[in-house]
Amino acid sequence: MNRIFCSLVAASLLFSCAPDKPKNVEEIPDQSSKSGPEAVLTDPTKGIGAVKTVTLHNPLEQDRIGRGLAIFEMKCSACHKLDETRFVGPGWKGVTQRRKPEWIMNMVTNVEVMLDKDPDAQKLLELCLTRMPNQNVSIGDARDILEFMRKNDGEK
Ligand code: HEC
Repeated sequence: MNRIFCSLVAASLLFSCAPDKPKNVEEIPDQSSKSGPEAVLTDPTKGIGAVKTVTLHNPLEQDRIGRGLAIFEMKCSACHKLDETRFVGPGWKGVTQRRKPEWIMNMVTNVEVMLDKDPDAQKLLELCLTRMPNQNVSIGDARDILEFMRKNDGEK
């Protein structure tokens, strides 16, 4: 009897709290209840960030590859190798097969949030024990790097 009473109290507390909930749903988006086109935006394998869909082309876009290489040398090569060797961060060989293009671009442009919230990014952090720093990479630059990674993975 007592238990039932307690759960009733608990339930009424719950309900009485409900109307006080902040109206600002933007702050804590409830992604679980979304369906339809928005579900694509919350595909967990695409990571978290501004990049929702990436269109890939074959043959590869050569101008992007050149720019991607230059960015790699300037901002990434201190921590990443192009083969599978882990250095500070994972080697890039095979990364475009392991990850969706959107995930890669979100990782590069939104790394703090990815490391805090994306399960796959967090697994890498556990492995590497260093937080990849924000490199101030624009979405366009991230797309160029992605093209360079595809080239590095043997795509034509
Ligand atoms: C100071 C070292 C450092 C620099 C510089 C760095 N990274 Fe990283 N990167 C890491 C670490 C460490 C990880 C693994 C996740 C973690 O522990 O933060 C990682 C993970 C990644 C991953 C995921 C790899 C996988 O196997 O899934 C990508 C993609 C990536 N970095 C891209 C880049 C790009 C692009 C640049 C340059 C613009 C860059 N990183 C610069 C350290 C670095």
